[in-house]
Amino acid sequence: MNIHPISGSIGAVVTNIDLKNPISDELTADLRGALDQYLLLTLPDQHLNATQHLNLCEVFGSPIVNPYGPGKPPHPELTHIIKEKDDDAGVFGGGWHTDLSFLEEPPSGSILCAIEVPPYGGDTLFSNQQTAWETLPDPLKAMLDDRKIVHVGKPYGIKWAPPLEEQSMKGSTLRNDPNADRERFHPAILRHPKTQRPGLYLNPTYSLRLDGMSEAESRPILDSIMQHATLPEFCCRISWSAGMVAIWDNFSTQHYAVNDYFGFRREMRRASFSGYSIQDYISSRPQDAS
Ligand code: SIN
Repeated sequence: MNIHPISGSIGAVVTNIDLKNPISDELTADLRGALDQYLLLTLPDQHLNATQHLNLCEVFGSPIVNPYGPGKPPHPELTHIIKEKDDDAGVFGGGWHTDLSFLEEPPSGSILCAIEVPPYGGDTLFSNQQTAWETLPDPLKAMLDDRKIVHVGKPYGIKWAPPLEEQSMKGSTLRNDPNADRERFHPAILRHPKTQRPGLYLNPTYSLRLDGMSEAESRPILDSIMQHATLPEFCCRISWSAGMVAIWDNFSTQHYAVNDYFGFRREMRRASFSGYSIQDYISSRPQDAS
């Protein structure tokens, strides 16, 4: 397989590989190593069916069922992200976020397959949260060291759910689950279990406040950290083509689906996988490196 970086900070295009074929142990190791290093891999022209999509997940961990966007039987692990051409509501994932960070066990990564894409627009942005942490000014670093961040699944819960007409994927994501409104506490800094690089773990969609501070006290601090976390220097922007696959590390990145393709249909299929657990990132120490 060939690997070519997409930007100076995050992402690589992987070519000379056919994911429809059985994935050997050697290729598994290469793909895992590449994801650990680049945090985002794009693989054009793969055209995976549902079974091949799930097989690819197994390279990194076990596919999980998204409790707020389960797929239809027989593949509940596959969430279909569809925006019809006349849909003028928001778009699924249309804000900076990491997938399902409000769960007790958020997924380690996700794999998105492009089924139908608009002729232009509908890109996805990714930001490297390891570089964001490394370059964060020291006073802000000090605020976050040994600090937990409170995450809440507000788009899926009761308190902050937007009106129905503003919801994207109406009827296909489950809403009004009081469990999603529960506060979940995750460390602000997670250390990658393999590379040992620490990274920021917070996002403007689900992170509500710093542990030990109110929402009002946290707001200006979170705002300036989040503004830093998605500076263009830490980002890449990927343009989709039908059949393309993207794999990302969900603990070390944020992403943003760009909603700029009104008049065109876009259909994607997403699976998230368990892989490394958040505990692996918490207990990881420099001496554990292998
Ligand atoms: C997502 O947030 O996982 C969806 C990204 C996209 O549709 O580009």
